[in-house]
Amino acid sequence: MPGVVVVGAQWGDEGKGKVVDILTEHAEVVVRYGGGPNAGHTLVVGNEKIIVRLVPSGILRKDTRCVLAQGMVIDLSRLVDEMDELVKRGYPHVSEMLVSDRAHVILSYHRLIDGLREQGDGAIGTTKRGIGPCYEDKVARRGVPMGALRDLGAMRELVGRALEAWQPTIAALGGKPPTVDEVMAEVAPLAPRIVPMLRDTAAIVDEGLRADKYTLFEGAQGTLLDVDHGTYPFVTSSSAIAGGACTGAGVGPTRIKRVIGLVKAYCTRVGGGPFPTELAPPKPDADLGERLRKIGDEYGSVTGRPRRTGWLDLPALRYAARINGLDRIAITKLDVLTGLAKLKVCVAYRTPSGETSDFPVGELDRAEPIYRDCEPWSERTSGARKMEDLPAAARKYVGLIEEAAGCEAMIVSVGSRRDETILRSGVFD
Ligand code: IMP
Repeated sequence: MPGVVVVGAQWGDEGKGKVVDILTEHAEVVVRYGGGPNAGHTLVVGNEKIIVRLVPSGILRKDTRCVLAQGMVIDLSRLVDEMDELVKRGYPHVSEMLVSDRAHVILSYHRLIDGLREQGDGAIGTTKRGIGPCYEDKVARRGVPMGALRDLGAMRELVGRALEAWQPTIAALGGKPPTVDEVMAEVAPLAPRIVPMLRDTAAIVDEGLRADKYTLFEGAQGTLLDVDHGTYPFVTSSSAIAGGACTGAGVGPTRIKRVIGLVKAYCTRVGGGPFPTELAPPKPDADLGERLRKIGDEYGSVTGRPRRTGWLDLPALRYAARINGLDRIAITKLDVLTGLAKLKVCVAYRTPSGETSDFPVGELDRAEPIYRDCEPWSERTSGARKMEDLPAAARKYVGLIEEAAGCEAMIVSVGSRRDETILRSGVFD
């Protein structure tokens, strides 16, 4: 079965956009299976930088069918704006994209609640895009599926019911809820743009897989932000792991042939929550964290927030390899490590119950990373096109990552441009 899942092995922002764009040279279908406009995948084509939030990164290839599946939450005006921008930039085929009629609609009250909560004590540093409250409505069975756009009268009733349920929460947070009329006034003009794209996308994806079409399931966020397996409660509200491709796109696990994990050569995290290998004051080497942020351009592509930066966490990678069943990895941003005076990786943790090489995800607040020094390198790597072009120390570093992941790196990215990439055998088989 030609189903391939690409999933972030860390806290998101591993560089999915570029890797998915490379893989889609051969993919006939690209499916986003979870999350919403909290994602921001950066694509660099020539001198042009394109950031997609809802639209799959496969959109740059005109023969690739792009699908937004039912695991997603979709903000209508952001989707329409993103499509208009892509048309303006020379990608008119974006209008052929298909959208699940069972993905859920993010409405103005979801954004309002997300924003109000982020002003209070319970803030976790969300993207304030309404993601959490929209998924809350979905599991509370009072959400608004995209299919409701086909009948705005019926949608009005769904919105009324949800608004009534949220009323006390919004009041307690000190906000003023919108009226049903206000919500519908925002939705109504957008519906005619979106309704023609609505489909039972699970059936279409299945049809493609049966016809042997190479289908890429593009994950958003990352393993450690997954609602079940991440650093809860500092997580997003969706299933960001490989298993989420099955529930989010509506395909059975037997349809998935390969799971590729994206591993940035160091770690970053946006928002709150534990990050044991973080390089920030008062920890030693905080200046190196600042350097990684600058050289790696580590600023959130959705919110512009500076990302927290830190050493690579190998126990976390072992954990991601296990949870996702990784059988290949793609290493990104190796070039950013060039010229560091010092290079360390976390190899194990000291916890109250002893030393462990596992990621102690349930007791990170009581775990202390154990580091190993690696040999730094100073030679530029962005010109490397095969492994032998890399300095020996960088090759060794790649080997350490492969060993922790338990599988081979099929792609090593050494720059943001498409061609600044080492493609190894087995990428497209
Ligand atoms: P939410 O998804 O907006 O609810 O945010 C929950 C947490 O996930 C916050 O810490 C966000 O910064 C983080 N987050 C959500 N989406 C992404 C992403 O695409 N990359 C990195 N972090 C993300």
